[in-house]
Amino acid sequence: MALVNVNQLQVRFGDKQAVAGATFTLDEGETFSLIGESGCGKSTILRVLAGLQREWRGDISLLGDALVPGARFTGALRRNVQMVFQDPWASLHPNHTILRTLAEPLNIHGETGVAARVAEALQEVGLTEDAGKRYPHQLSGGQRQRVAIARALLLRPRLLLLDEPTSALDMSVQAEILNLLNRLKQQHGMTYLLVSHDADVIAHMSDRAAFMAGGVIERVFDREAMVKGEHRMAEVNAKR
Ligand SMILES: Nc1ncnc2c1ncn2[C@@H]1O[C@H](COP(=O)(O)OP(=O)(O)OP(=O)(O)O)[C@@H](O)[C@H]1O
Ligand SMILES: [Mg+2]
Repeated sequence: MALVNVNQLQVRFGDKQAVAGATFTLDEGETFSLIGESGCGKSTILRVLAGLQREWRGDISLLGDALVPGARFTGALRRNVQMVFQDPWASLHPNHTILRTLAEPLNIHGETGVAARVAEALQEVGLTEDAGKRYPHQLSGGQRQRVAIARALLLRPRLLLLDEPTSALDMSVQAEILNLLNRLKQQHGMTYLLVSHDADVIAHMSDRAAFMAGGVIERVFDREAMVKGEHRMAEVNAKR
């Protein structure tokens, strides 16, 4: 059975139909990507699946549960679906140390052994204990994104939603973070839903990629099509 099943998803903001009947499935263990021009509805779909955008129509099943529009995520869903955003600045509290930021989700869920698990999480994403004592502004952009990834993984989610996780980073740092994400995915058996504007990132990371335009999915590319570069042409043709 698919881990995620999205059928005829619609999201409207006033007069604007941001998502206009998007349909796709995600199999357990795969990396599935959304591509397409700015404003075509990619982030909105991720926000719906993260429980951040609660007004929508259609049918969604997420990790075996049918989602209900308007409902907050509770219990297992809250742990099992995590999101990493483009800009780690916006997602890290400026006045909290990294240790405090990482301990927070564990404390909220009433977990034990918090200090040890935070230390393990830092190590997993390649940060030192010393980095844990710092504030976000005392880290590089790549280090901040490692913190955001560590925090998303602390609750051992099954599905990770990645909204342009490396587009704010230098090329070399970008490659490090992408390799880190691939390694963590293997280690923990996660499923990824990735948004990226970069055709090379998409080809490097994805098992399948869906090309969106005007709030719907127009075409899905498999590995073979991506190796041929067909996903690049979709973007070019859309701009004509
Ligand atoms: N909270 C909101 N209120 C009003 N309109 C919104 C809101 N969020 C998104 N939109 C609109 O919905 C459409 C889809 O936005 P979305 O952020 O999903 O696009 P995107 O594909 O992620 O674009 P980008 O590649 O630039 O990140 C856009 O026209 C956007 O302006
Ligand atoms: Mg977006």
